[in-house]
Amino acid sequence: MLEFTAPTPTIAQPMADPMAEAMQRVDAVIRERLASRVALIDQISSYIVSAGGKRIRPRLVLLFSQALGFEGPERYELAATVEFIHTATLLHDDVVDESALRRGRATANSLFGNAASVLVGDFLYSRAFQMMVSANRMRVLEVLADATNVIAEGEVLQLMNMHDPDLAVEQYLRVIRFKTAKLFEASARLGALLGNAEAQLEEECAGYGRALGTAFQLVDDLLDYEGNSDELGKNVGDDLREGKPTLPLLIAMERCSAGERELIRHAIQHGELQRLPEVLAIVRATGALEATREAAQQEADKARACLAGLPESHARAALIELCVRSIHRSS
Ligand code: IPE
Ligand code: IPE
Ligand code: MG
Ligand code: MG
Repeated sequence: MLEFTAPTPTIAQPMADPMAEAMQRVDAVIRERLASRVALIDQISSYIVSAGGKRIRPRLVLLFSQALGFEGPERYELAATVEFIHTATLLHDDVVDESALRRGRATANSLFGNAASVLVGDFLYSRAFQMMVSANRMRVLEVLADATNVIAEGEVLQLMNMHDPDLAVEQYLRVIRFKTAKLFEASARLGALLGNAEAQLEEECAGYGRALGTAFQLVDDLLDYEGNSDELGKNVGDDLREGKPTLPLLIAMERCSAGERELIRHAIQHGELQRLPEVLAIVRATGALEATREAAQQEADKARACLAGLPESHARAALIELCVRSIHRSS
């Protein structure tokens, strides 16, 4: 089995990270709860978890609970729970997307096969459900059960939208709110629940998560075109190969010439990765990358505005910082 190593410093973890100790506690829970009687489960789950990852969702649980004055040990368990749900979605997502690289390593599906990846993803989902029961609060169960269900809806919606160059921007946004923003929202809300926030404040915390998650996925879709595979730890161009109509392409198609539009439409319909250089040139020339970043920036601003009701604290400052880093990131 692979050794567990701490995640590498990335956007969420600047140099001197005041959350470092708390995040180590989360990692300790993750390590403990990964254990299974079945060797292949241990092997695959340790493989993906030990590769690191930014751990943004557990960080949201910790920061919101801390901003509201809650520092009990339940927060580590719930933080680890959302990371398990996230990791399960990654295992499944890489099978569906036929991706080869994740967190700088060969994906679990490319190494161990699709069946093993899907089944270990199921193990992580169900382990997350075992863990969330420990909070002994119906609302916690409700939030995570709903989030998990919406993520699955988002992934299926996205499947239905594949290879569709006529996808409306609203439909694209709906997918990213479901598949990505929902877990950010749930993580923030869990922090608020732990901190016993009253209803309106809980909604504001959830609103932050929803907006930050949307910004985060918009940037992810941007990086799939302008990013660097080494830094990202994922292969650039995966979205085009799959014929995913993401915002950079939707905007480019609105702005380019008829001939260029036909080229992009064809590339989406047929998943033509070999067209990446031409598509990228059109995306660049039309300013679609800047426009996508601008859309992400607007969501990040929205997220930041949701923090107005929180008392000033280091945790609140870190949540503001996350809005900035989620936009200006390369991994
Ligand atoms: C990847 O999420 C999936 C998306 C929602 C874009 P992250 O970028 O948070 O993945 P890790 O955990 O840091 O690897
Ligand atoms: C995010 O979508 C997937 C989930 C939230 C499950 P992507 O397919 O864009 O994520 P990456 O790029 O593979 O990490
Ligand atoms: Mg993917
Ligand atoms: Mg992506």
